[in-house]
Formats: sequence, structure tokens, C-alpha cells
Amino acid sequence: LDAPETDPFEVARTAAQQIADITGVARHDIALTLGSGWGKAADLIGETTHTIPAQQIEGFSAPALAGHVGTLRSVLLPSGKRALIIGARTHYYEGHGVRRVVHSVRTAAATGATTMILTNGAGGIRETWTPGTPVLISDHINLTADSPLEGATFIDLTDLYSTCLRDLARSIVPTLDEGVYCQFRGPHYETPAEVQMAKAIGGHIVGMSTALEAIAARQAGMEILGLSLITNLAAGIQKTPLSHGEVIEAGQHAEPVISALLARIVAAL
Ligand code: 6GU
Repeated sequence: LDAPETDPFEVARTAAQQIADITGVARHDIALTLGSGWGKAADLIGETTHTIPAQQIEGFSAPALAGHVGTLRSVLLPSGKRALIIGARTHYYEGHGVRRVVHSVRTAAATGATTMILTNGAGGIRETWTPGTPVLISDHINLTADSPLEGATFIDLTDLYSTCLRDLARSIVPTLDEGVYCQFRGPHYETPAEVQMAKAIGGHIVGMSTALEAIAARQAGMEILGLSLITNLAAGIQKTPLSHGEVIEAGQHAEPVISALLARIVAAL
């Protein structure tokens, strides 16, 4: 995937064929990337028929954290639709390049998925968002200075996070707030000044994923739903220093509630 002469879409087609061969499922309809705090949704949306260690599939990197096996799951929904659950996200800050970051999205598209649900754990800029609040992503600001598109690929990103899917999500959970997601490179959290910048340019949520994946999903013609779990308020908004432990703990605490919420949204698709 890293060699410039390699066609990343060809690698994604190979990966999708491997998934089809292993699962016997010719076509997946929906794909979900489950970020921090959203993992339990995998068990709630349907019946997992296959769990594949991601490294078995072409183009997927070894897990970033030792002992943490990323998996791809094929799930049969009650409606009869098929979901591909991506529990193996490669973050931009890992430094393996943007092709690795979006490979799972391109693979999902190559399996046939036309809806991409991207979830993450993120920092909140609005003070009213206490840890554990789920927020719909209405748009994004990509602050990575990178793109998954190569060469002269000029694509429109209007309505990137589908208005139709957001309306549907709110029809199920009327209290859902929405906001603009700012993807920073990380892996450090932002300084308070950077958080103020994000706020000044129209951001409401700060994180380290999702925007690059959404661009790749749009390029692949998918309809996108984005959801952030606010695990903490961003630096300077929250008065205490941020810690990864706090972020993980908030995610675990909120997981049952937001996973159930996501399962209800998926059931309505
Ligand atoms: Cl405050 N910033 C970023 N970039 N990612 C986060 C976060 C903050 N909190 C959770 N994830």
C-alpha cells in the first residue's frame, strides 16, 4: 500500500474479496468504524457471523497497541442487511500515511457498502457537553494539512455528513446536538490556544480521526453519518489537565448508553 506505484483502490478490492471469501457474504450494505466508547454497538446491532483479525486482510496494519487485536466483523442485522464493523482504525498520528488511514473505508466501499458510519471519542468545546454526551458531526475542518485524494482529484464536500442521515438520527434521538469536528494530527492534545483557534474558526469538537476517512468515503460515493462521543472538554475549556486515562474511562462509562443509541439508529437505516 505504501509504494507510490501501488493503486490503493486495487488493494481495497483485494481486501474486499478476501472478506467476501472468508465470510461467504457477497455484499455488505453498511460499514461502521467504532471509535473509543462505541465498541459495544457491535454486539447490539445484530448477530456477528464472522470475526476476522484485521492483519489477515490485505493492507491492514498490525495493531498500534501491542496485545490489541483489531478486528473486522460481519454482522447480520435484523432487517437482513449486512454490516461490516471496523474495529481496527489506523490513526493519522501513527505516521503510516493517509492511505493506511483510509484503507478500511475504501475496503468497506469495495465490499459494497453505501453507508459509512464514522464514530470517535473526542474533546468538546461547548461547555454544556459533559463527558458522555454523543454529538452528531454536521461538518468538519481538516487541520491535518493532508488529504486521502492523490493528484488532481477535485471533489465536492458539500453535505459531507449527510443531512438526511442526521435527520434520521435525530428522529430517533431528538436531543442529539450537532457540531463541527476539527481533526488535528495529534497524538498530543491541543493547547488551550489551539482550542480557542478551533472555536474561532467554527469548530465545536476536537479529535484525531474521522475527517480524512469521511473524505475518502465521499470519494467512494458513500453516504456518511458521523458521531462523536464527548469524553472530556478540550484543553482550557476544562480546567483540569487532560489525561488519556480519563478519556478512556469516560468512554467506558458512556459505552452502554451510546452504543444502544447507535444500534437504534442503525436499525432505522
Ligand atoms: Cl481534547 N483533543 C483531541 N484531539 N482528541 C481528543 C480529545 C481532545 N479528547 C478526546 N480525544
